[in-house]
Amino acid sequence: MSILFNEATQTFHLFNKEISYLMTVLPNGHLGQLYFGRKIHHKEDFSYLMERVHRSMTAYVYDNDCSFSLELTRQEYAGYGTTDFRHPAVEIRQQNGSALSDFVYESHQITAGKPKLPGLPATYTEEPSEAETLIVRLRDPLTGVVLELLYTIFSEGGVLARSARFRNEGAESVWLTRAMSLCLDLPDCGYEWLQFSGAWARERHLKVRRLEQGIQAVDSIRGNSSHEQNPFIVLKRPGTDEEQGEAIGFSLIYSGNFLAQAQVDTQDTTRVLLGIHPFGFSWKLEPGASFQTPEAVMVYSHEGLGKMSRTFHQLYRKRLARGYWRDRERPILNNNWEATYFDFTEDRLVEIAGKAKECGVELFVLDDGWFGARRNDHAGLGDWVAAKELLPGGIKGLAEKIEALGLKFGLWFEPEMVNADADLYRAHSDWILKTPGRRASLGRHQHVLDFSRQEVVDAVYGMMAKILSEAKVSYVKWDMNRSITECYSAALPADRQGEVFHRYILGVYDLYERLTSEFPKVLFESCASGGGRFDPGLLYYAPQGWASDDTDAVERLKIQYGTSFCYPVSSIGSHVSVVPNHQVFRETPLHTRANAAYFGTFGYELDLNKLTEEEQQQVKAQIRFMKQYRKLIQFGDFYRLKSPFDGDGNVTAWMVVSEDRREAVLGWYRVLYHANQPLGRLRLKGLDEALCYRITEDGRERTGRYYGDELMYAGLITTEGVSREAALGQKAGCDFDSRIFVLRAES
Ligand code: DGJ
Repeated sequence: MSILFNEATQTFHLFNKEISYLMTVLPNGHLGQLYFGRKIHHKEDFSYLMERVHRSMTAYVYDNDCSFSLELTRQEYAGYGTTDFRHPAVEIRQQNGSALSDFVYESHQITAGKPKLPGLPATYTEEPSEAETLIVRLRDPLTGVVLELLYTIFSEGGVLARSARFRNEGAESVWLTRAMSLCLDLPDCGYEWLQFSGAWARERHLKVRRLEQGIQAVDSIRGNSSHEQNPFIVLKRPGTDEEQGEAIGFSLIYSGNFLAQAQVDTQDTTRVLLGIHPFGFSWKLEPGASFQTPEAVMVYSHEGLGKMSRTFHQLYRKRLARGYWRDRERPILNNNWEATYFDFTEDRLVEIAGKAKECGVELFVLDDGWFGARRNDHAGLGDWVAAKELLPGGIKGLAEKIEALGLKFGLWFEPEMVNADADLYRAHSDWILKTPGRRASLGRHQHVLDFSRQEVVDAVYGMMAKILSEAKVSYVKWDMNRSITECYSAALPADRQGEVFHRYILGVYDLYERLTSEFPKVLFESCASGGGRFDPGLLYYAPQGWASDDTDAVERLKIQYGTSFCYPVSSIGSHVSVVPNHQVFRETPLHTRANAAYFGTFGYELDLNKLTEEEQQQVKAQIRFMKQYRKLIQFGDFYRLKSPFDGDGNVTAWMVVSEDRREAVLGWYRVLYHANQPLGRLRLKGLDEALCYRITEDGRERTGRYYGDELMYAGLITTEGVSREAALGQKAGCDFDSRIFVLRAES
């Protein structure tokens, strides 16, 4: 990896084995984009890549050069209104109301490693040799605002991390009303746009469409990254599939309002913008003040979507997630939410935990309802003190009982919220986000605490830290169950109200940072009514997140498949729950519920006492299986084999391969059983061509040995036979069926 600067041509070349990124200083001093893609040879001069053409109806920068219009120039961090008419990366409002900027190159600096982004989650290096960072410094002479563009290229993988920071070195305050993390101008528009969209209980479904002239975007202005959209998009060439072709993934390490946008202009070039949503955003920069944008990560792959995803997985698993649990196998847990909802007693919890222990579970998690007056979702939120009538010995007493069973104990919090019927609200009704003179709308009967205020974050920290230090809590589920309305902070002046959404998220990050550093061995799992804030921002603090409130195995195929485009298996919270399923009322077999949940952190969301003896035996076997293979599943290389979004989506398949390619676990899922099933064959991926593998199917060894090349190029036969049905005790196949194959190379 290297970052080279050619003084004569004013060109930067950032490259590693996989990618090249080229920029140049333009005639007006702005930074121009020359190339991003597969690695190319280094040369002194790449200026030919910047086409300069004159077109009618353009405005040009200099009177004597009508071929230099910013509208027709690919730029690194574009402004609006000085001959470019596309949506810009930056907008700065001055006191006189003007909103233009003119950032001119001043200097640059190249350093080993990667600087931290103050107060924000970001990728990191452990050794300076893992990456190099270029900081390009530009200045807007009129306002005196300095812009630093940060580019980090990692030695491994087609990864470039970017962000921008501003410092007001002028004499007057200005307002940043748009400060994107990334702007990338691509020279053509021959791409398909992939987004991961949905709703509560239907998160991150893959949607694909062709880029067309105009704007396509996904965003959130809800205060959380949202169930509806994810801060992640992909541009791929039309022929790109899992194994070949070009793809660029764009991911924002942020948990609040965001915008991901591609604009195709009349010249068929494409501008990608990614960052904090400019809608409603404005940040006052007083003289001497700074602003740092969140980080955006771009991953380029010329070996298809699979390679792009594995690059994200590797980076986010090892150089975004942090701490004690980063590389550790995740405990198999039993959460009481779907088992009891609010209707529990301490004895009932201990009874559930006892059976869980007997079945091999490692961690018992007490969900919502243990504190204050929280007997339903109308009261108590914000009062983080155990309800004595439920838990006479408090959380400490319950945790001791659970530990005495030989289990670890975990606890649910929803730190950012308050019910009006709660002591916290009675003491501090002004601590919520609400706009003066307007009604404060409720969501799930609760208000949002104003986390842009330090004293609010401090108070919540105090309550949580007390419990975590008094009781033996090994895991925290951090929930967040509504979006923000009437966003306004009583603590900020009128000209800073546009800062509240971002300050709120900074408050969330601050609380996470303090709790995770004070309690480094506690495993944090993020959650927001399922996957309403499943984003890379929170992965920095919580190495796993509850992917969705939808625990139905069939629904989970799409959710987990879509999630896998950016996020590693070790981050995907997935559990087995009861049938009929509580979200879709479907009855899926127990083996399929587990076979889907294995490809995540794994656990149970039910009372195992209520299963039959036979089912409990099955659960014990499932837990034994997961303990044996979770290291491989959670930390191996993930390959998508068959998409639930293709065709009728009836069959889904994926597999995880160990780093040395000697072991693999494959999940195969079929939604509906059809009469006279067609023959089935799956081409596997990621194996070693030369190794010979033994295969077990649902624990039973298949006859024969198979070379990696056979399995990858000729395929694994998945056609069902009568023997399998008999073994499963079925009459003839079944709906919602699934199989697990384990491959082991012979020594
Ligand atoms: C929403 C979460 O996604 C659920 O798992 C559960 O924790 C409930 N909140 C509790 O209120």
